[in-house]
Amino acid sequence: MGIRQQLQQGTRELHQNLDAQMRGLGALNTLDGYQNFLRCMHRMQTHFAPHLAIVSRHIGLPDPTHQMRSAFAADFEALGISVEDPTDTPRVSTKPDPTPQQWGHAYAVEGSSLGGRYLLASVKKTMPDDVPTHYLTQLASGAKDRWPVFVDALETQTDLRVEDAISGAETVFRFVSETAQSIQEDSSHDSASQ
Ligand code: HEM
Repeated sequence: MGIRQQLQQGTRELHQNLDAQMRGLGALNTLDGYQNFLRCMHRMQTHFAPHLAIVSRHIGLPDPTHQMRSAFAADFEALGISVEDPTDTPRVSTKPDPTPQQWGHAYAVEGSSLGGRYLLASVKKTMPDDVPTHYLTQLASGAKDRWPVFVDALETQTDLRVEDAISGAETVFRFVSETAQSIQEDSSHDSASQ
């Protein structure tokens, strides 16, 4: 079995849970849910950006950090919500070769572009026309421009400890799930106190 397939199988349940959690929050069909979804994705992209930058450099893909940041800024501005400053960006090793964990982080974040195509279509179908979709458009373009390059490079990592890569991918799914939960709790408190 290929490395991508092992990662896909190893994280299937976490992905299904996250998908259900996001739908439960109304991420794709209510404005509040969509804003919370964007906040959550912004934290994921910011938190894992240093790892993605290392993997991207290693395999000859452009570092996506800047374009992602601009896409979020455009969505947040159009929605009238403030961009959070990242407070928890991890320190990363400056070694040029990604660790197995970093391959796993990159798998989860780059792979989310496949779902991104679906998410973009859903938001366009169910939400008002003026709802901004800069992030999702940028994300979905990665399914064509980045994902095939990433998977080709991943499959050449014959020495990769796949269980460590799976654990790196799981870290991303858990981070997103916990972040979504905490954003949801904050926004329920805000609306209860108004
Ligand atoms: C509402 C939230 C989400 C939905 C509905 C969703 C949906 C999907 C769908 C439909 C696919 C398959 C697309 C295809 O094969 O063309 C997919 C793939 C994927 N998604 Fe998600 N997704 C969501 C959130 C996320 C998040 C937040 C992450 C990252 C933590 C993520 C990571 C992945 C990965 C890694 C794949 C590729 C799996 C593979 O084929 O190897 N997804 N998603």
